[in-house]
Amino acid sequence: MPLAPLVDSLGRVHDNLRISVTDRCNIRCFYCMPEHDVHFVERREILDFEEIERFVRIAVTLGINKLRVTGGEPLVRRDIPVLIRRLSAIPGIRDLALTTNGVLLPQLAGPLYEAGLRRLNVHIDTLDRERFLRITRRDDLDKVLEGLEAAKRAGYSRIKLNAVAVKNLVEPDIVPLARFARENGFEVRYIEFMPLDAQNLWDRSKVLLADQIIETLSREISPLRPIPDPDPRAPATEYEYADGGGTVGFIASVSRPFCLNCNRVRLTADGKLRYCLFAIEEDDVKGLMRSGASDEQIAALIRRNIAGKWEGHEINSTRFVAPPRPMYSIGG
Ligand code: 5AD
Ligand code: SF4
Repeated sequence: MPLAPLVDSLGRVHDNLRISVTDRCNIRCFYCMPEHDVHFVERREILDFEEIERFVRIAVTLGINKLRVTGGEPLVRRDIPVLIRRLSAIPGIRDLALTTNGVLLPQLAGPLYEAGLRRLNVHIDTLDRERFLRITRRDDLDKVLEGLEAAKRAGYSRIKLNAVAVKNLVEPDIVPLARFARENGFEVRYIEFMPLDAQNLWDRSKVLLADQIIETLSREISPLRPIPDPDPRAPATEYEYADGGGTVGFIASVSRPFCLNCNRVRLTADGKLRYCLFAIEEDDVKGLMRSGASDEQIAALIRRNIAGKWEGHEINSTRFVAPPRPMYSIGG
């Protein structure tokens, strides 16, 4: 049982921790990474499994009960099933999920399932090989599709597909991807392109907004209607097809910011605590751990971080300042 929940100055309770286990990645999506000269953190600066597990056990005493493992690409971290097994065994964790680009799923879908993972989000923007190459700068679409098959066979339920909605780029993919999801029992979720790319390419005019996608899918496939939200704190707004063909999610960070419902905190691969995807400041958990701090001191740092959380991002304001870390070193 938590001692006292992690509450910020706006009364938001934090029970959801996202853990980035590496900043490395085997592909190079332009909205996340630069094409060349990526600066990765040195290995000794990355939290080891003991440190991650210790942090999670402390966080659980503060009310964290949902975990998501992210990257970079989490499956490039050596022995990732071992970490999943350790995390899934922690009492108090009632939900464990992982976000991957899917390239290594053909080999790892099974071992991860055996280690206790049940929920997967697989990143895929397009079913077109050329556009996949343009977006990710790697020719790995076949591996991702194979990975999705492997995940289905392994027994994951409700596999989600993440697609980043970039204007003047992915419009031709919206309908094919949604049909593919319907046919395979996946739930597709479109994530509005956010200002977290490594080359400062983002501006508002490059975001394909949720409303435009809803209109396209409603016209081309079947009318979409909003589903009343079972979990108002989840970032995705869910829609269902009128013909009963399943659901579609939207993470509309730009057109419908959801910061006032935020329940998330993030731990980076190099052991920094961030109360927001867009946070400028962060707290040094690793430094504290490696200097011999007690569990109480680490818990106090977590509390302080959340207590200082801002109201939300200001993507839609001229005051917006992009965080110094691009997506791959935060983990989304
Ligand atoms: N904007 C929106 N979503 C992004 N992702 C990566 N970069 C961006 C961006 N700039 C998404 C990917 C990944 C998830 C963690 O974040 O879909 O699956
Ligand atoms: Fe939470 Fe920050 Fe995302 Fe807003 S932008 S929902 S405050 S993590």
